[in-house]
Amino acid sequence: MRLDKFVCKSTRLNREEAVVVIGAGKVAVNGSVVVDAGAQVHESNCIVFQGGCLKPRPFRYLLLNKPKNTLCSNVDGDHPSIFNLLDVEYPHELHIAGRLDADTTGLVLITDDGRWSFNVFNPKYHCQKVYRVRLRDSIEGEHKGEIDKQLVTRFKQGLELPGETKPTLPAKMAYVSEREVLLTISEGRYHQVKRMFATVGNRVVGLHRERVGSIECDVPCGEWRYLSDEEVEGFGFSPFSELDNRL
Ligand code: URA
Repeated sequence: MRLDKFVCKSTRLNREEAVVVIGAGKVAVNGSVVVDAGAQVHESNCIVFQGGCLKPRPFRYLLLNKPKNTLCSNVDGDHPSIFNLLDVEYPHELHIAGRLDADTTGLVLITDDGRWSFNVFNPKYHCQKVYRVRLRDSIEGEHKGEIDKQLVTRFKQGLELPGETKPTLPAKMAYVSEREVLLTISEGRYHQVKRMFATVGNRVVGLHRERVGSIECDVPCGEWRYLSDEEVEGFGFSPFSELDNRL
């Protein structure tokens, strides 16, 4: 990590203040003064400022139940940012792991651990995301209470989304009602769920993310909580080949 970032993460200084104290020769790395704010340092280095060895704050991992018409962005835009809902210190250090559209609700993971968030949404690890999808048109097949079998097969085989060459990875659909399904996917392509249903001639009219890996969206709409250690470690990032067995 950059030295100025390390200083920010272990003091109350912001980035500009960190650059100033580093440039003024007030920070030493492993016994030598370093004035380059962009110098790469490691957590195991001894970084001394104001007579003490700095220790970065521990990583934070949060889940939020995102309300409709909020933005997965660090700043407000057409709608307010979800960060307005978080009463935490140093919110600027946090980022969103796997964004949702403004009109989508449900589980959003937020952290300052870049490696963790990269892995959660890295398609290599096939982390499953479950969406409750409300549809414009019925998905019922021949029998009441069942999804059209052809549709199930198409989603399982993978769909070619417009403008993309690689088909989607196998997706699983479970029937909820004539116009509602639970869809399990293991990627996070741009507007993926809406585009998958558009590709088969349907339209998503309501979307809610219920689960990411084993983490459930278990807080009321607009509320958040910290993840437990088990939840953070539970992703167990290990690639596997036979996705079908997991779906
Ligand atoms: N797929 C979408 O189309 N939108 C989302 O917000 C999430 C997944």
